[in-house]
Amino acid sequence: MRVLVAGSSGLLGTTLRSHLTGSGHVVTRLVRARPSAADERGWDPPSGRIDTGAFDGVDAVVNLCGAPLASGRWNQARKQVLTDSRIEPTEVLAEAVAEHRVPILVNASGINYYGDTGGRRVDESAPRGEGFLARLCGEWEEATEPARRAGARVVLLRTAPVLAGRGGVLAPLVPLFRLGLGGRLGDGRQSMPWISLADAVAAIAFVLEHDEIAGPVNLTAPSPATNAEFTAALGRALHRPAPWRVPGFALRTALGDAADEMLLTGTRAVPGVLTDAGFRYTHRDLDGALAAAL
Ligand SMILES: NC(=O)c1ccc[n+]([C@@H]2O[C@H](COP(=O)([O-])OP(=O)(O)OC[C@H]3O[C@@H](n4cnc5c(N)ncnc54)[C@H](OP(=O)(O)O)[C@@H]3O)[C@@H](O)[C@H]2O)c1
Repeated sequence: MRVLVAGSSGLLGTTLRSHLTGSGHVVTRLVRARPSAADERGWDPPSGRIDTGAFDGVDAVVNLCGAPLASGRWNQARKQVLTDSRIEPTEVLAEAVAEHRVPILVNASGINYYGDTGGRRVDESAPRGEGFLARLCGEWEEATEPARRAGARVVLLRTAPVLAGRGGVLAPLVPLFRLGLGGRLGDGRQSMPWISLADAVAAIAFVLEHDEIAGPVNLTAPSPATNAEFTAALGRALHRPAPWRVPGFALRTALGDAADEMLLTGTRAVPGVLTDAGFRYTHRDLDGALAAAL
């Protein structure tokens, strides 16, 4: 399969490229900088420009674009960047997929689609939740509509925080835990879905290769944790106690809305579609996933 990947320089994109190439697929990258390698094609999402020929012979487009969510306090300007960096590239790609009759579009989105679900388990049939991130995920998914209307198989990845050795959700936590400063956030009862990097990338390859899969797909491990359970597991993995509790008000003061939406509430999501389709996880339990990442 010839796969065109946008947002390919990031955590998921880098590992996906090696995974797909290792499985015999041919990967081309859409890059915002000037193309500097034979497998790169240029594009500029805000203007809608894409290099001529970028879609020639392409069987599937994977869109992983988006400015980092965990980048400090969210103000209006930052929220606009988070939104524009997801919606604009998706609109441009969905129109191009429709125009060039590409059969498959796999589009990133987040597990935050469901918002704060408390202790209620949700699969892909659950409705969109409330809050900035849930609305953003909803708009992000809607931006793929031109591709779906043109008959493409569109897969909407609702990805949980990815556990990886470098980058992702562990990057800011590990140094603190190593210093013995780890602790649960707020009351620690909020859900904390997760997925290992290896499983996230294998699942993207799986949905590319399974023609029967379309629509939303929760990219999350089958066993979501609570924040307290996650904190304890990370402490065990690093052989450090994590006895502290970071109060909600301190996080809100430092991070604004981001504290409530990303740290103090959570989504107890389970992978309905992947499980039904027979996807085999490498890391089903949190201790194993953390050991692999660290
Ligand atoms: N990692 C996670 O835990 C996680 C969880 C849920 C959802 N997701 C979503 O999955 C996607 C990939 O995640 P990731 O962890 O690989 O992200 P990442 O490491 O931050 O990489 C995202 C990619 O987006 C592109 N990008 C950055 N700023 C952009 C902008 N202003 N406009 C257009 N493109 C921009 C960059 O690609 P180029 O420089 O190559 O263009 C970058 O490599 C993102 O949309 C992310 O929100 C990730």
